[in-house]
Amino acid sequence: MPTKKNLVTIAHLTKEELMYMMEMAGEFEKHPNRKILDGRVVATLFFEPSTRTRLSFETAANRLGARVIGFTDPKVTSSTKGETLKDTIMMVSNYADVIVMRHYLEGAARYASEVSPVPVVNAGDGANQHPSQTMLDLYSIYKTQGTLENLEILLVGDLKYGRTVHSLLMAMRHFNPTFHFIAPKELAMPEEYKVYCREHGIRFTEQEEFNEHAIAQADIVYMTRVQRERFTDLMEYERVKDVYILREKMLRSAKANMKILHPLPRVNEIAYDVDENPHAYYFEQAHNGLFAREAIICDVLGITLDDVKNDPTILP
Ligand code: CP
Repeated sequence: MPTKKNLVTIAHLTKEELMYMMEMAGEFEKHPNRKILDGRVVATLFFEPSTRTRLSFETAANRLGARVIGFTDPKVTSSTKGETLKDTIMMVSNYADVIVMRHYLEGAARYASEVSPVPVVNAGDGANQHPSQTMLDLYSIYKTQGTLENLEILLVGDLKYGRTVHSLLMAMRHFNPTFHFIAPKELAMPEEYKVYCREHGIRFTEQEEFNEHAIAQADIVYMTRVQRERFTDLMEYERVKDVYILREKMLRSAKANMKILHPLPRVNEIAYDVDENPHAYYFEQAHNGLFAREAIICDVLGITLDDVKNDPTILP
């Protein structure tokens, strides 16, 4: 019996595996509507709120012919009666071929993958990892820059609690990036990720100032929301919530190729006057999530790039 495949963390994927997933996402962008998952069931278990991740996973499943079960609010499940995560996962694996799960606890996806007989995809676990977001971020960077190699990347905002930036820097270790961490002291990149950078030869700088000069050197400006839900002290959140706001006038010296990414949702950190600027890419980035997640579901189910390329079930 083949080993069960999960997507719990991006950290273990090789460069070849990441590039393979880029190619698979590209195939799905060419032909997003197929019946390749006809007869399969995808479960989406969301213990935390979501718009993009859940809806794009469900759209991916639907556009590939699968059916979807799941919940968007754990309060309507038997976890409120005391059912454990292990038992919930065991039950759902009786019904579904793959489980996509978002959970507020760091490590919950790893645990679910260990107890589940069917593949588990981590749709975000606390402040830890968000590997499917990273896959679509990489795909967006690859599409807009034509490469993942040798890029100057600004990570801006909540680098402490923002799981998307943690996953992204781990994935980029294969591609010789230079990161510039821009955050107030309270939201600085945690030491463990700086240690990770040093161990993997990833160059980085740290600064608190976010201005036109910082943007001018960047190929990618990756904005993040201050993660209100992770603060134990809301006074501290109030102090830092609007610390950086990207405005259109700050883009005057930007390189022509520079793109602004944001995992979304945004609150105040990108002014609306940026939305129409050619550097803005965050809505297209979210659209790319559909293709990346089609690739992820197929990959964990053992469907290969060759299967996707030679798929007879493509719909017009
Ligand atoms: N980027 C992201 O995870 O968005 P949602 O929280 O809406 O899923």
